This record gives sequence, structure tokens and C-alpha cells, in this order.
Amino acid sequence: MSSANRRIFRMTYYDHVTEAAAFLGAGFQSLAPPLNPKLGIVLGSGLGALADSVVDPLIVPYSEIPHFPRATVEGHSGRIVAGYLGPIPTGSSATPQSPTTAPVLIMQGRVHSYEGYSPLQVTLPIRVLGALGIRAVILTNAAGGIHPDYHVGQLVLLSDHINMMGWSPLTGPNEPRFGFRPGSGLRFFDMTEPYSKPLRELAQQSAQDEGFSLEEGVYVATLGPSFETPAEIRAFRTLGATLVGMSTVPETIVARHMGIDVLGISCVTNLAAGLGSKPLSHEEVNETGRMVEQRLAALLKRLAPKIAATLEAQP
Ligand code: HPA
Repeated sequence: MSSANRRIFRMTYYDHVTEAAAFLGAGFQSLAPPLNPKLGIVLGSGLGALADSVVDPLIVPYSEIPHFPRATVEGHSGRIVAGYLGPIPTGSSATPQSPTTAPVLIMQGRVHSYEGYSPLQVTLPIRVLGALGIRAVILTNAAGGIHPDYHVGQLVLLSDHINMMGWSPLTGPNEPRFGFRPGSGLRFFDMTEPYSKPLRELAQQSAQDEGFSLEEGVYVATLGPSFETPAEIRAFRTLGATLVGMSTVPETIVARHMGIDVLGISCVTNLAAGLGSKPLSHEEVNETGRMVEQRLAALLKRLAPKIAATLEAQP
């Protein structure tokens, strides 16, 4: 065995995370001014439009990042787009205080467990965000609407979730080195407020500025890849879920383990199984995503600078 192989053989998951973070961090530091994003944004199925608004972006396909999983699903492009939403700050300061701009790290596309990835692989990108110093993350997704009042194309803030995937990304030995924030990285930790109330309030303000309001809902995560049966949807409604999807929950769990604040936003791309008149399809999910992605992008463009300003003000 060559020495290179021996080194790889001994690498741990934590090493993979830090190597991927070092690779991206070096890219950010090579920019003028260097980029220090504290806000991460994950754009789900067909919701990638926001990435086009990043000024002078650094674009890195997932395939170029060491140890990063590659997206295999149509509608998930699979690249990091990092830069500023709003004007690039001038002068010597690399950390903009202006609420009109936000340094951001956008993940355009994500991987899912149904693609064959392990829970650790699915959540590796969120671990990398933690290692890069990200303090708040906006997780967006396409979801089926369970609540009878929801309509296709609606954006809904997550207030809570139900994990029906049958696994947690945190099973196995705890890795305390992922405690990048004080009081985080614990074996057991509180999930009373998985989706940050202050971030939801900022999102409501931004929606109002855009002329609409946001409902809040409870997202149930399933493994997929088949859509649910009508009986499953009735069961989920009885349990208190108002949205159903195949992502986000593992990312939220891992982000909270690292002490990262989470904002979840679902786009209702279809009525959940048994509630509409036609069969569900991935095409419908992508089509609705394309209809809504500009509105989501407008919301996030207003919201990101507000969040960035609060993060800059934190110690
Ligand atoms: N079920 C699960 N995942 C989804 C759905 C759905 O109806 N729509 C978009 N993602």
C-alpha cells in the first residue's frame, strides 16, 4: 500500500469534513476581499434561481470538493455558489456591516438518502458549513402540502418537524469536535425549537416587504423515493404534519448538533397524495419549483442581509 493510500485508509469522517472545509475556505480566502460567510443557504429541487443573484460568485461543483457527495437527481444541480447577495463591500474590511449586502454560501442542490447515500454522507455538506464558521442556515425544499388550506406554489415556514426516515444522522459515537459553537457538539441536546423563532420573525418581515405573508407548518420527512400513499398522508395529518418531503430533517438535526440556527422554508409543489385530482410526479414538483423560484429568490434576497446583519452583531 502506498503512503497516500495508508493516509486515506486512516482518515475519519471528521477528517473528511475538515479537508472539504479547508479546500473551500482556501477558495474563499483567495478572493478580494476574502469571503467570510456566516449564512448558508441550501436550495432544494428546482429552487436554484437565487444562485443567479450572487454578485461575482465563486462557483465550485460538488464533484471538485474532496469527499463531497454528488447530486444525482434532475433539478438538483450540485454546486456551491459563494459570494454576496447585494453589493460587494469596498475598502479594507472583509466583513460588511451594511444590511443591504450579505456574504453567503449557497448550496445549489443537495443529496438524499434515497440516492443511496448514507446518513453521514447526506449531512456531510452541513458539517462542512459548520467547519467553515457558518452560524445560520436557510434550508429550502419542495414539499407536498398536507394542510387542506395550502395551495400549490405557496411558501411555508417550518415551525417544527417529524422524523419518519427511520434513522438519525447522529447515531454512532458522538463527535464533540463538531461543537463549533459554545455548548454544542453534545451527545444529547435540546430540540424544542429546531427552527429559530427570531429567524422566522425576520422571514415574516421580509415576506411582508415583498407583499405576502407566510404560514408556518410542520414538515414530516420520509425516506422516499416513492411518494406517499393516501393512507400515509392521512396518518401524517393525524400526527400534526402539514407538509411532507424527503429532505431537510437530517440537515436540521446535524445543524442543531453544531449549534447552527436553522430557518426552514418549504415550497408546496403539489398537494400530497390523495388530496389532489392527478397522480404525483417529479415533473410536477420541478415545474412548480420553476414557477415559484423567483418569488423565493426575491424573499431570500431581502432576508439574507437582515440575517447577516444580526450574525455580524453576535460575538
Ligand atoms: N412527498 C414527498 N416529497 C415531496 C413531495 C411529496 O408529495 N413533493 C415534493 N417533494
